[in-house]
Amino acid sequence: MRISGRTRTYGILGYPVGHSLSPVMQNAAFAQMKFDAAYLPFEVRPEDLRAALDGVRALGIAGVNVTIPHKEAVLAYLDDVDPEAAAIGAVNTVVNRDGRLIGYNTDGAGFLAALKSEARFVPKKRNVLILGAGGAARGIAHTVASAGAASLVIANRTVSHADLLAQGLSHHFPYLKVRTCELNPAAMEPHLASAHLVIQTTSLGMKPTDPSPIPSKMFRKDHVVCDIVYTKETPLLKAARSRGAKVSGGLGMLVHQGAAAIFLWTGRRPNMNVVKLAVAAGIRAKSARKR
Ligand code: ATR
Repeated sequence: MRISGRTRTYGILGYPVGHSLSPVMQNAAFAQMKFDAAYLPFEVRPEDLRAALDGVRALGIAGVNVTIPHKEAVLAYLDDVDPEAAAIGAVNTVVNRDGRLIGYNTDGAGFLAALKSEARFVPKKRNVLILGAGGAARGIAHTVASAGAASLVIANRTVSHADLLAQGLSHHFPYLKVRTCELNPAAMEPHLASAHLVIQTTSLGMKPTDPSPIPSKMFRKDHVVCDIVYTKETPLLKAARSRGAKVSGGLGMLVHQGAAAIFLWTGRRPNMNVVKLAVAAGIRAKSARKR
C-alpha cells in the first residue's frame, strides 16, 4: 500500500477492535480495486463515541464501519440514517458526504448476498427458523422479512426476548406470520419440519465443545442452514451437512457486508474471491497467534 497526500482514509470504530478482521478484509478489497485508500482500526470507548464521530468529520475520514458495542449508540450522533438501518435500530456503515454523516446497515444485504451465492437461496415466500433473539437476530429477521419470507419462528433460550423481537417485527411487517419457541430440539422440531431456511445467530458453536442446538437427525436434504459464526464450521453446520443440507457459514456474510460498505463508499464492488482469501488468511494467522 502506498500512502500519498491524496489517499482516502476509512476505518472501523469498535471497543475492543483488535480482534476485527475488517482492516485485513477492506484493505485487501481496496488493493484489488486499485483504489487509493487506507483502512484503519480505531479503538473508541463508549464515552468517546460522539467525539470520535466529530473527529471523522473534522479529519475528513471518508467512511467508517461501526462494530460492537457502538452499532446502536451511533445513531444518536449521525446526521441522517437510512430507513432500513433506522428500522433495525443499528448502523454498521457510515458514509461521510461532505461533512454529513449518513448511517446504513449492510449486514442484511451481506446476509442475502452470501445466501444467494453460497446456497443459491432467496427467502421469498419461504418459512424461516431463527435461533437467537439478540442484535444479530434482529437485523437478520428484518432482512428476511423485507425479502418477503412467508413465516418466521424465533427460537431463543429466553423466550421473553424472542417475544419482544416478534412484537417489533409484527409492527413493521403486519402480514408476516411470526411465532416464538424455546431453544431446545423438542420445541423446535415442529417448526423445523416446515422450515426451508434455518439461521443460527447466537454465539453457540464458537467453542468446539459446544453441542449442536439441533441434532443431525432433525435435518433434511432440502434444508438450507446458515450460521453467523465465521471462524470455523460450527457443530450445527456439521450436523446439517451430514444429512445433505446446504450450509453457509458466517465468512460469506462477513465479506459480503464488507463489500456492500465499500459499494456505499465508492460505487464499486471488489472481487469477492480475493477478499474471501484475504479474510481466510487473516483467520488462520489469528488462530496461529493464539496457539
Ligand atoms: P448479538 O448482538 O451478537 O446478537 P446479543 O445481542 O448479546 O449478541 O445476543 C446474544 C444472543 O445469543 C441471545 O439470543 C442469547 O440468548 P438470551 O436472549 O437467552 O440471552 C443467545 N445466547 C448467548 N449465549 C447463549 C448460550 N450459551 N446458549 C443459548 N443462547 C445463547
